[in-house]
Amino acid sequence: MTALPELSGKVALVTGASRGIGYGVAEALLARGDRVAITGRNEDALKEAVDKLGAERVIGIAGKAHDLDHQAEAVARTVEAFGRVDFLVNNAGTNPVFGPIADLDLNVARKVFETNVVSALGFAQKTWHAWQKDNGGAIVNIASVAGVSASPFIGAYGISKAAMINLSLQLAHEFAPTVRVNSIAPAVVKTKFAQALYEGREAEAAAAYPLARLGVPSDIGGAAAFLTSSQSDWITGQTLVVDGGIFLNAGVG
Ligand SMILES: NC(=O)c1ccc[n+]([C@@H]2O[C@H](COP(=O)([O-])OP(=O)(O)OC[C@H]3O[C@@H](n4cnc5c(N)ncnc54)[C@H](OP(=O)(O)O)[C@@H]3O)[C@@H](O)[C@H]2O)c1
Repeated sequence: MTALPELSGKVALVTGASRGIGYGVAEALLARGDRVAITGRNEDALKEAVDKLGAERVIGIAGKAHDLDHQAEAVARTVEAFGRVDFLVNNAGTNPVFGPIADLDLNVARKVFETNVVSALGFAQKTWHAWQKDNGGAIVNIASVAGVSASPFIGAYGISKAAMINLSLQLAHEFAPTVRVNSIAPAVVKTKFAQALYEGREAEAAAAYPLARLGVPSDIGGAAAFLTSSQSDWITGQTLVVDGGIFLNAGVG
């Protein structure tokens, strides 16, 4: 990482940030001077990400997003290391199945909900009690376009992302006026998670997008930086669709 800007005085906790969108969000927040705590399951990958991001302003806390002890540890260690936790970006997510919803294994559906929705609520509760309730801040939940439309063959994922969007509404209402809570709903962003959707056929996949390319993590990083900045001080309970214009195709033809 190149020279870091002056400290903003703010601190963010970004879940699932050793690579992909979470890493892009961490990079964007660091670039404006925040200090950042990141999480992920694989300790080595997390350590590598911390070093790459610039270890003097970043800490890593390894663990599984749905694990309550990990949630508590992540929030506590962020406050311990940096003295505060202004922003929470709930980014860790899973999409382990592909197939018709008629045959979906309900235990898998439960797992998807646990990781994508219940974990985000757990992190929000803990961040609220540890800092935000008394000091304010913002929460951004990384949902998906799958949560605002039908998504054949990834039904459990889509339902969980829709629930995440409603979670943002509930939190936005209950945490106002102290804390703002918004969702970001990305279309396909080039990460390991989405690789199967474009690998070997990126030009073809990109052609469906009015802006003629797939997303990259910094596209979501920029949106998250905006939603955790004073420039969005009067925005709460919204879902920002970041999709290269793919939704413009709805209703055409
Ligand atoms: N890429 C897209 O096209 C796209 C579009 C819409 C929404 N999203 C959403 O964006 C979020 C990030 O996706 P991505 O594309 O950046 O994925 P990714 O490249 O696979 O990165 C996921 C990150 O989260 C960590 N992680 C995964 N599961 C975790 C868990 N259970 N607990 C803690 N950390 C976990 C991973 O590290 P470890 O594996 O070491 O844990 C990694 O750092 C997800 O919520 C996804 O639903 C992605």
